[in-house]
Amino acid sequence: MCGIVGYIGSKKATPVLINALKKLEYRGYDSAGIAVFDGEDIVVRKVKGALKALEERISKEVINGSLGIGHTRWATHGEPSDVNAHPHTNLSGTIAVVHNGIIENYAKLKAWLQGEGVVFRSETDTEVIAHLINYYYEMDGDIFHSVIEATHRLEGSYALGVICSDYPDRLIAARKESPLIVGLGKGENFIASDVPAVLEYTRDVYFLDQKEIAVLYSDHVDLFDEDGNKVIKQPYHVDWDLSSAEKNGYAHFMLKEIHEQPKALTDTMRPRLVYENKKPVDINFDELTVAEHFKNAKRIVITACGTAYHAGVVAAYAFEKFARIPVVVTVASEFRYMNPILDKDDIFIVISQSGETADTLAAMRLAKEAGIHVIAITNCVGSTVSREANDVIYTWAGPEIAVASTKAYTTQLMCLYLLALKCAFLREKFSRAEYTRLLSELEQIPSKVQEILDDKTGIQKFVSKNFNKEKVFFIGRQFDSATSLECALKLKEVSYMHSEAFAAGELKHGPIALVDKNTLVVAIATDPKLYEKIASNIVEVRTRGATTFVITQDKDGAFAQAADEIVSIPHTESAFASMLSIIPAQLFAYYCAIHRGTDPDKPRNLAKSVTVE
Ligand code: F6R
Repeated sequence: MCGIVGYIGSKKATPVLINALKKLEYRGYDSAGIAVFDGEDIVVRKVKGALKALEERISKEVINGSLGIGHTRWATHGEPSDVNAHPHTNLSGTIAVVHNGIIENYAKLKAWLQGEGVVFRSETDTEVIAHLINYYYEMDGDIFHSVIEATHRLEGSYALGVICSDYPDRLIAARKESPLIVGLGKGENFIASDVPAVLEYTRDVYFLDQKEIAVLYSDHVDLFDEDGNKVIKQPYHVDWDLSSAEKNGYAHFMLKEIHEQPKALTDTMRPRLVYENKKPVDINFDELTVAEHFKNAKRIVITACGTAYHAGVVAAYAFEKFARIPVVVTVASEFRYMNPILDKDDIFIVISQSGETADTLAAMRLAKEAGIHVIAITNCVGSTVSREANDVIYTWAGPEIAVASTKAYTTQLMCLYLLALKCAFLREKFSRAEYTRLLSELEQIPSKVQEILDDKTGIQKFVSKNFNKEKVFFIGRQFDSATSLECALKLKEVSYMHSEAFAAGELKHGPIALVDKNTLVVAIATDPKLYEKIASNIVEVRTRGATTFVITQDKDGAFAQAADEIVSIPHTESAFASMLSIIPAQLFAYYCAIHRGTDPDKPRNLAKSVTVE
């Protein structure tokens, strides 16, 4: 994620920038920085740590100037450090840039710029942008054209704020995919990643559209399309209060994060797909030093806790199905006391959103002591897991504020599916044609998640009638039994309803004794080969009085008669459906919490990061 801000006007820029950044700290908090034009030069101050560290750093100096940009960082490329903090500048320090997003082709651009003699100072993708703008600026001396030329070469997502000491009368902003707004004041104007940053100063904003560019002066703002043609549009008057603005208008962070999944999944997936003629043809994990190891490994060992463990259980099905490689998945709190049997030919994967979970760390250290190469999947750059693992795959989901994990889970799944497919291809388990077919299917997952999010009425209606059930059981087979685990956890965490997950075939071996008219049974059914089996399970529980709810790709088939309510998810390869079927279950959990009056963002007794055993 990351938050960016910018100011041009007659006030001192520094306090305005700091104030605005405070409202964006939820977007990133591992480092922060500002760049202010002081009348002669651009003064850059940036430090590792929360915004407070930056405030302390600048408290003893006066930075004059009424033009500036600022940034609060959630690291994606390069660990949190002073040097990796934004703003980044060209070598002479005359152009400064803040960025939110991921530049997918940064490695290529960096190599090319290095060939042109540029010396890079940070590990970030953002520094490329500063040098790229400079490259064009040296050719024609026009900062606006240089920003346009540079953005034409960027692949991926960006929201940018740019200042140049030769143009002290303007601030340039541009966006593609990452959010960016322009705040319209009287004799002053602002940019920000999100509305809360400017609410203290103005309620009139432009929401920049895809690839739009804004040039801000003190007294007016000009908008342009990606080719520099003028765009005219009406400002929007914001009438939300500050707390709902922080959540982008959503009532809770959990709901906001559920809705961020299409973007988060795209950010996780796309930089790792290799395209030819706009079609994905391969997967490239630049970050893996042992990609070839996947070819000959004898076994995959996965360990994690909670939701991350559930991602591991889904992954076991994926690796075994696609790559035909055995997988062992163990919760980290068990693994650490197991005296585990490990082999140097194992691939060892730990999964942790926070990268700080005590049990996961202990399990990882055990594997490292045994001389095993550890691959970590985590969302937090600079976390302990990321520092201690041999290779790190980042989920790039952005900060997850709600305690109950949603977007971190689905992006973990995406990383694991990418790994499983790559592994299968290296092991020659399918043809190139099948590989590219699967990649094209995978590529559509984010838009299919969006389709589910676009129509929530069925789920909301069903919840309004069933939020008082005494017990809720989630059932499924194969991949769907793995998904059921996460569905049940989400519901119990945020609504405090008693929920359990069972492999559907296990029902009659015991749990069915619990089924009565106060029971809701939610079946996940995404594999056509198993529809009839699940339909029979539904009939079994229904005849014992249970209410039934089915999440499936087969709305009109096997379940039409058997279920009380069906939520259909878009068609996809059934092995990928775990990334879709969890979405209605997340929404179900969220709306149950709302109806029952619990706080979905801060469930009782739970912490976001479990750093003690
Ligand atoms: C559930 C949840 C927890 C975490 C678990 C591991 O919504 O968030 O179950 O998944 O505590 O945390 P990380 O992934 O940070 O290691």
